[in-house]
Order: sequence, then structure tokens, then C-alpha cells
Amino acid sequence: MESVIRKCVFPVAGYGTRFLPATKAMAKEILPILDKPLVQYGVEEALEAGMSDIGFVTGRGKRAIEDHFDINYELEDQIAGTGKEAALAGIRELIERCTFSYTRQIVMRGLGDAILKARTLVGDQPFGVVLADDLCFGNGTGVLAQMARLYAEHRVSIVAIEEVPREDTSSYGVIAGEPLGNGLYRVTDMVEKPRPEEAPSNLAIIGRYILTPDIFGILEHTPPGRNGELQITDALREQARQGRVLAYRFDGLRFDCGSVPGYVAATNYCFERFHRAAR
Ligand code: G1P
Repeated sequence: MESVIRKCVFPVAGYGTRFLPATKAMAKEILPILDKPLVQYGVEEALEAGMSDIGFVTGRGKRAIEDHFDINYELEDQIAGTGKEAALAGIRELIERCTFSYTRQIVMRGLGDAILKARTLVGDQPFGVVLADDLCFGNGTGVLAQMARLYAEHRVSIVAIEEVPREDTSSYGVIAGEPLGNGLYRVTDMVEKPRPEEAPSNLAIIGRYILTPDIFGILEHTPPGRNGELQITDALREQARQGRVLAYRFDGLRFDCGSVPGYVAATNYCFERFHRAAR
């Protein structure tokens, strides 16, 4: 698909404390859904949206991500000429079609800070952001590709949203917006992790964003917000005040693989859809 957006940022420095002890020595983004790491699903979705420059904001203990998007010569040599080679076809294609860059977030100061660290990788152009533990399956077209199409038309920042139960608003950024039709809203306000009684709606931001590059300048002077961390939601609120943020109720499914119930639901869904269907 023709896209005006080439870059996609993956903030992957987080500790994954909800998955301890599994994430004690292993990056949470390498946890598999069936036989594929979560982060690979995210990179596939970015590539489908035309974003082939992948920038990871990484941290200590995340080396396996770099190794995953590289060739393992010894392994490839071992399985060369056997049926097992086919299992590496998908990841090989990604390695051939994408470029991967890495920068480190030294101190965990929030998602806004992680995105600001990507500035040197992104430069002065619009870019996608994927939070790999939100696993998304679009209907027909991937969620990021749906958003890239909208960006081509509107040229403003876009956040993916979904309806959540009121009692869950404190786990998400939540928007207030005017419906424009076809699942699109003009965002008028947004709040990071509000208590249900303070939430402006039950439309929660999930881990897919398209951001215009002026977000970096805004992030630089955004004060710490919820939990004392620099929040992307707060920086986006400034763009929203200027009418420059859209929220999009995407067409598809999303699993919160940062939690055990979401992870199990995603595994069951993928087992039915990809594994059983293939037999
Ligand atoms: C982050 C964002 C939040 C968003 C969520 C989506 O929170 O800060 O606004 O709703 O991702 O997954 P986190 O889940 O990293 O605490």
C-alpha cells in the first residue's frame, strides 16, 4: 500500500512487571502468541501499513529483540535444506524488507519520554507508534494501515480507540470527542488513566498512534503527569486543543497481552484462527 509514513516507533523499554517471573530475564515483547513473538506481530502490522523503518526505543535486558530481527547464522546453517526452514520464512521477509534502528531509554520516565527519545530516529516527519503488548487484528486491513489511510486524508495525529467498560478507564488514556462518522472523532480533550467518575467517556486509547512531528517540541515542555511520568496523552492534549487530533474506532480486534487474561484470550483466538484453520 502507498503510504506517506515510513517510520514506526516501538517503545519496548518497559519491564513487563505484570508477567513476572517470565519477564525477569526475558523481554516481554518476545513472549510468543503461539510460535511468534508479540513484537513480530507488531512489526508485520507496521510493514503492512507501509512503515518499513522500524525504530525501537529499548532498554536494559532487551537484547533478544535485536537478535530476533537479525540472522542467526548457526541456526540457519543447522536447518538449511530441512523442512524447518519454512518456519523462518516470515521473519526473514521482515528482515529483508525493513530496516531496524535502536536507541535506549536510560531511565523509565513514561511513554511520552520514550517517544521523545525516538526523535533522532524519526526526524521531522509523521510516524506510527506501536505498543506491542496491544495485539491487534484488523478486519481485512491491519489497524495501523487503516490509520495510515486516514492520515493521508487528514494530516493530523490519530489515536486508535475502543469502548471499554466504565470501571476500566483508569487503565487507559481516555478521550472526549465529537463524532465525525465512520468511527472517527475530533478529539476535544484527553485524560491519562482517569477514575471512572472523572473519565470524559469510555473511549480508551489503545496502543496504536500516528503522530505529527511537532509532538516532539510539545513533549519537551510537557510537565510530568500521571504517576510522575511524561505522558504522551498530555502532549496530545495540546494538539487536540488546536483541533489537530483524531480518534479512530478501528475495525478489528485488540487483545491486551500485557495482562494474563488478555494474553490467554489472544492465544486462544490465534490458535483457532491460524493453527486449527491450517490443519
Ligand atoms: C499507555 C498509555 C495509555 C494508553 C495505553 C494503551 O499506558 O499511557 O494512554 O491507553 O498505553 O495500551 P500503559 O498501558 O503503558 O500504562
